[in-house]
Amino acid sequence: MAIQLVTTAAQLRAESARLLTRKRGTSQGLVPTMGALHEGHAQLARTAVAQNDVVVASVFVNPLQFGEAADLERYPRTLEADMALLDAAGVDLVFAPSAEEVYPGGEPLVRITAGPLGGKWEGASRPGHFDGALTVVAKLLHYGLPGAGLSGTGHSDAGLPAYRAYFGQKDAQQLALVQRMVEDLNFPVEIVPVPIVRTEDGLALSSRNRFLSDEERQAALVLSRALRLLEARAGAHEPLDLESAQALVESEPLVDLDYFDVVDPRTLEPLAENCRQTPFRGEGLAIIAARVGPVRLIDNVPLDS
Ligand code: PAF
Repeated sequence: MAIQLVTTAAQLRAESARLLTRKRGTSQGLVPTMGALHEGHAQLARTAVAQNDVVVASVFVNPLQFGEAADLERYPRTLEADMALLDAAGVDLVFAPSAEEVYPGGEPLVRITAGPLGGKWEGASRPGHFDGALTVVAKLLHYGLPGAGLSGTGHSDAGLPAYRAYFGQKDAQQLALVQRMVEDLNFPVEIVPVPIVRTEDGLALSSRNRFLSDEERQAALVLSRALRLLEARAGAHEPLDLESAQALVESEPLVDLDYFDVVDPRTLEPLAENCRQTPFRGEGLAIIAARVGPVRLIDNVPLDS
């Protein structure tokens, strides 16, 4: 394997600086993950590799974003397989710190708060989840900042490497929140959204799919089918008729629908009622969440007329 593993922030700074110097690189990409990687993550990594000279992927199961201790315990840890997948994608460095490295004094007293956007949709059923996710993303973005170890390597302040971080569109709310955090708090990084990867029959890839039985997996396909229905109606400038798409999901007995709506992609505020009854124009994001058997699944599709 060409990929290198580092576990401390100091090693990450030193190694990424060394790689940038060796490659005479002008850009660095960061792919934050919690491990248990699948093809969706591989797509994030490949996109980062195509756009940057040096790419770091972080693998850290962040305790701050889990509500229940049992969920944190249960979260799959598969570092060896994750490293093989990242290596195949061309990633240079894996940063897999311990909880003590990231939170040396225990849980931090000061955190990022996700604000009102963090309390709706996924946030409504997972209180504090987005505060925890944004807090660790802020830290990871700082750890991955290129140039910190580059003194004497010819990089002047004016010529600091470009810095990009990669997030999947599947977690649309996390992506919107990270984009707002970076804008609102002036983080020197470009956030690059990467489209959802699906199986051939339409299921959005997720680390949680492994917990679905065959029957549940089959039932879960109704989520992407309902989203595709809205996508087709938007593309044809037809009324979205969300109610009939919702009825389709509710007709599947193994699926317990939590929410299904059409929102503004940046604010995640529901679009005005008239967008649903009159021919659809403009841009929107159809979002859905449901419990299927033991897992909660989310999915979304951009709507563009
Ligand atoms: O999307 C994830 O895997 C996590 O929420 C992230 C961004 C790595 C933060 O822990």
